[in-house]
Amino acid sequence: MGSKSHTVEFTDEILRNRLNAYRLADREHWNFRGNAVRQHGHAYFQYPAMMVPQMVGDLLDAIVGQHPGYRRVYDPFAGSGTALTEAMIRGLDFTGRDINPMAVLLCQAKTIPFFDAALQEKSIQVFASARNARKSSIAVEFPNRKKWFQDSVAIELSKLRRAIQAEPAVWARRFFWVAMAETVRMTSNSRTSTFKLHIRPKDEIDGRRLSPLAIFEKITARNIAHLRMQKELLRNAGFIERGHYHGSVDIRIGDSALQEKTSTKMEFDILVTSPPYGDNTSTVPYGQHSYLPLQWIDLEDISTGIDRSCLGTTHEIDRRSLGGSRRGIKDVVESLRQRSPSLSATIDGLQGEKPDRIARVVAFCRDLNRCIAPAVAAMQKNAVMIWILGNRKVGGKPVPLDRILSDFLVANGARHITIINREIPSKRMAVRNNISATMRTENVVVMRKGIE
Ligand SMILES: C[S@@+](CC[C@H](N)C(=O)[O-])C[C@H]1O[C@@H](n2cnc3c(N)ncnc32)[C@H](O)[C@@H]1O
Repeated sequence: MGSKSHTVEFTDEILRNRLNAYRLADREHWNFRGNAVRQHGHAYFQYPAMMVPQMVGDLLDAIVGQHPGYRRVYDPFAGSGTALTEAMIRGLDFTGRDINPMAVLLCQAKTIPFFDAALQEKSIQVFASARNARKSSIAVEFPNRKKWFQDSVAIELSKLRRAIQAEPAVWARRFFWVAMAETVRMTSNSRTSTFKLHIRPKDEIDGRRLSPLAIFEKITARNIAHLRMQKELLRNAGFIERGHYHGSVDIRIGDSALQEKTSTKMEFDILVTSPPYGDNTSTVPYGQHSYLPLQWIDLEDISTGIDRSCLGTTHEIDRRSLGGSRRGIKDVVESLRQRSPSLSATIDGLQGEKPDRIARVVAFCRDLNRCIAPAVAAMQKNAVMIWILGNRKVGGKPVPLDRILSDFLVANGARHITIINREIPSKRMAVRNNISATMRTENVVVMRKGIE
């Protein structure tokens, strides 16, 4: 044992102590009870299963406090961009990937130039153009459009779509598309109490008198107020130059399992992410939740040449996400078992259950494992990796995802620092997904790259 390994141990201990210090000061610290409010850039849209911003902020502070030179943050499952916003508040660079175009749009909207006065003027223009529009044809068609939108709603949404398309600046259009997405969520015939597409009863639909234009105006005004708050925070910290965030931000649509092939050199200092907890269909259907909004948004504004087939069915984005396909899993079970003793024990525990249950767990873990190698490869040595995830139950039995993930990370050359277990105080996610009995806590797995 040389002094090098001694230094590594010491470095790890400092981080462990920094993270433990929060709980020593307040036993309930990581639960953020009544303190998980979403403001400024965190509050534009209700994306499912968002991380608690304050938690991400504290984790980043602990890491950067120890390593002031760590500036480059990576989130391979960026979602609505909670890590992005917290990184920006600290003046850090950020790279994010997500398979869902809606998530990428949400991240893009948080990094537009902070030209709030111009945005205000542009919004007045968009409102007027939509309100005064003569054309009343329906601008988009997709299977079951009439099921999900009353004609009167579809006509107003079409006016809004055309008014946003007429705005010349793409950064402003992105901001308006997010308000449009929230408007679609509020005015479609799908219930807002669940992330799945779930039609409202007919009498309820018939009784609704909705004005998408009025709703859009309200949401836009609210979001501009949030943008101003975010700008204020960034400006006070000295992170805005001529209206633009001073750090580097790179957000793209991508499958994080394929990241290695698409990138040349990525060297990040901090990974902070929350991957899905299980296959989207039986946990959180991010894709279904985004399906209706994405029908109304000009996808070219998210990414040029975007592959529209992701909207081929209501399930397509979820099918492409972790655990979305079970094809070929028989060929990988043995190698996955070898990589993760915890997964092996979980599979043994599920023997005798419906075969479908084992298949679901294996497919998800196979895809999660596929994302680990590229993610670790993208980090510099001694980089800190924070993975936030819950242990769900399948067939009444717990799936220890935190330990499975730790095994996969160790197999890819990472070392364990600590795991923080926290309660999920908000019932929103659990109740909305009918998995309240299976998920009340989540784990923050902290690792570093390098095995000495
Ligand atoms: C728990 S959410 C992330 C939420 C995010 N931390 C936030 O605070 O908003 C998980 C994300 O992983 C994305 N995802 C699922 N499979 C993926 C894959 N193979 N590659 C990249 N992103 C994926 C989903 O679209 C979803 O946005």
